[in-house]
Order: sequence, then structure tokens, then C-alpha cells
Amino acid sequence: MQLLDGKFVSEKIKQDIAAEAADFLASSGRKPHLIAILVGSDGGSETYVASKMKNCEKVGFKSSLVRYDVTVTEAELLSKIEEINQDAGVDGLIVQLPLPKHIDPEKVTETIDYRKDVDGFHPINLGRMMRNLPCFIPATPYGIMLMLEQYGIDTVGKHCVVVGRSNIVGSPMSILMARNANPGNCTVSLTHSRTENLKEIILQGDIVIAAIGKKNFITADMIKPGAVIIDVGMNRETSATTKSGYKLYGDVDFDNVAPKASWITPVPGGVGLMTIVGLLKNTLASAKKEVY
Ligand code: GUN
Repeated sequence: MQLLDGKFVSEKIKQDIAAEAADFLASSGRKPHLIAILVGSDGGSETYVASKMKNCEKVGFKSSLVRYDVTVTEAELLSKIEEINQDAGVDGLIVQLPLPKHIDPEKVTETIDYRKDVDGFHPINLGRMMRNLPCFIPATPYGIMLMLEQYGIDTVGKHCVVVGRSNIVGSPMSILMARNANPGNCTVSLTHSRTENLKEIILQGDIVIAAIGKKNFITADMIKPGAVIIDVGMNRETSATTKSGYKLYGDVDFDNVAPKASWITPVPGGVGLMTIVGLLKNTLASAKKEVY
């Protein structure tokens, strides 16, 4: 078994991003600028947004955080998004999910100008991704593709089993792995909570991408020997023994699955760090007008 090391790969790519950001600053007189909107104070969202902001600073981007109380109205939030859409000094705008129940995430997603949608959630970006056109690719699937590329994992003609069909990870991931591109060119099974014979299908996977949100859901008996395992799980449990007060678990039972796998991502230290890289790359591409 070999580790797909998100720490190593993300640091390496961030060095390249930092160099490009410095060139951009030298030629344009400004830094790439990402704005994140955070509504409320969900523990996970706080951590993820703080990490996004910190990494922006690390690679020489400008980052701004706009915070709203959980009681903010949908109209107020949409009007702020429209204001930011008009600001030529902003390259990327993300609204951290999940949102409180009284705010429609679809409205929020479609209000963000697709040319600043560095999360790649807007229907225009998703549609363009399906057609293999320039677009912003959702950060987590993008990060996974970069990881597969960096390690030279051969995906052509392989059976890729994606577990979980979320808008953020599973669904876009299945499209990317099936596209005529490299990495890509897989035969893809997109499985989910209603899939029959799930274990039998996962057992056929040369590449298994677990994005189901359940701790240790993928066990050793579900894995074909030699499979490539990508664990997208970010399952937080409170813990008295860690400094942060919580511990992170993947969707894969790492200790028992790893010995059967050819390659596997750890949690933490795997996909999570690559998500940030995907977001930074999209923001830089937006600043450089490489997509739109
Ligand atoms: N919540 C969980 N993942 C994401 C993400 O990639 N972007 C945003 N905006 N919210 C999230």
C-alpha cells in the first residue's frame, strides 16, 4: 500500500500557486482576491473557512470574510452577493454551506456570478464541466483529480465506483472520472443510499471514491485487492484528547482497508487539503481571466 499524501502534494502545488500569484501581483498591481461568506457559526464551517482564508494569505492572495448572524434574511444575503458580483476587484466568491433552513441554497448558488463562482457550484459551471468546456470545477473533485494526476494513477478504462451523490462531491466527481480526459476515461458507477447490492458494486471498483459522510462505512470486505481508495469523509467527533476538541474520521475503515489497497488517502492529511488547492487554483484562474 502507498499513501496518497495530501500534505505533500498540496504544499507542492501551493508553491506553484504562490509563484504565479507573485507574477500576477507584479504585472497587475493587485493580489487575487477571494471573499467567503459565512452564515452562523457551525463548528465545521468555521474551521473550513478559517483554513481557506489562512491558505489564501499563505500563497499571497487577498482574502476577506463576510460574516452574518444565523438570523440574516435571504434577501439580505442575496443583495450582498449581488453587490460583490459587481466588484471588479473580487475574483472569487464562495458562500460556505450548509446554510440555515430559511435560506434557499439553490437561490444563493444561482445568484453568485458564474464568473466568480470558484466553488464551481453554479449550473453554468456544472453544465460546462459536463461538456468538457473551460469552467470552474468544484474544489473537492478538482483536488482529487490533481492528486490522481500528481501520483500518475492510471485511470483509463478502470471501473470507478463513487459512493455518495452530493452536488458538492459525488455527482461532479462521477462526471469528471467519466470524461474523455486524463485523469478520466473511467467506467463510472455512481452509487448512493438507495443502491441495491452496494457491497458487490464497490467490490468491482478499481478506484473507489467514498463521499457518503459516514465514519468507517467502507470496510475491508468491500474492497477489491489492489484498489485505489479515495476517502472524502470529514466526520467530526468530539474528543477530549485533541487540542481542537474534536477528531476527524474518514468514510473508510483505514486500518483494515489500507493493507488491501494499492493507494489510499489518509484522513486527515488527504483529500481535505486538496480541496483548498482546488479552490486556490480556481481563484487564481479567475484573477488571470483564464476561464472567463
Ligand atoms: N461545505 C462543504 N464543502 C464545501 C465547499 O466546497 N464549498 C462551500 N462553499 N461549502 C462547503
